[in-house]
Amino acid sequence: MTDYFIHESSYVDKGVSIGSGTKVWHFCHIQQGAVLGKNCTLGQNVNISSNVKIGNGVKIQNNVSVYEGVELEDYVFCGPSMVFTNDLTPRSKYPKEREAYQKTLVQYGATIGANATIVSGVTIGRWALVAAGAVVTSSILDYALVAGVPAKQIGWVCECGKPLQGKFKCTVCNRYYKIESGVLSRK
Ligand SMILES: CC(C)(COP(=O)(O)OP(=O)(O)OC[C@H]1O[C@@H](n2cnc3c(N)ncnc32)[C@H](O)[C@@H]1OP(=O)(O)O)[C@@H](O)C(=O)NCCC(=O)NCCS
Ligand SMILES: [Zn+2]
Repeated sequence: MTDYFIHESSYVDKGVSIGSGTKVWHFCHIQQGAVLGKNCTLGQNVNISSNVKIGNGVKIQNNVSVYEGVELEDYVFCGPSMVFTNDLTPRSKYPKEREAYQKTLVQYGATIGANATIVSGVTIGRWALVAAGAVVTSSILDYALVAGVPAKQIGWVCECGKPLQGKFKCTVCNRYYKIESGVLSRK
């Protein structure tokens, strides 16, 4: 019995694992060996490449390709038309073996804004937020808010998504934070 939903316009290859409650909407392709967790939502025109691992509660908006070498932990949000990469120096004439693909890790709860680009080989920390249109070229701290091209940290952001604007208490949800050695965490 399947307790997930795949729209009839989408393709799921053999050897794919899909968790219960997950919804895959129109024109998607989930490739061989991919693992999709529980309660995920994939919007229209999403491609999940071979062997990609995606956690539980992940939301991927329209027009996103998650290439081999990328891993998304639980509750990651990928905004519409954001772009992952897995090769810093691609050449059509000299294609690399899949072992050479660079790894990108998006950690628990992190959000990537619409149309952002993630250059491969970085880690996006837990609950970090990448602004719309940013180009991420280096790793991002937990709870960091980054924006621009190349992306720079412009502040910190709460688990609820509200920028903290220099305060250690969120004005929306009242969560408290502390900073130690330049790293933000919950208090
Ligand atoms: C980054 C973000 C969280 C900032 O939110 P905010 O703090 O309410 O933003 P503000 O409008 O107060 O802007 C704060 C500053 O950041 C700048 N800024 C806002 N968004 C930016 C972006 N995407 N890229 C670069 N700079 C940005 C503003 O111009 C402003 O700069 P200033 O202080 O020099 O005037 C928000 O703009 C954003 O990009 N969210 C992602 C939205 C998204 O992609 N959703 C996808 C699902 S629909
Ligand atoms: Zn909050």
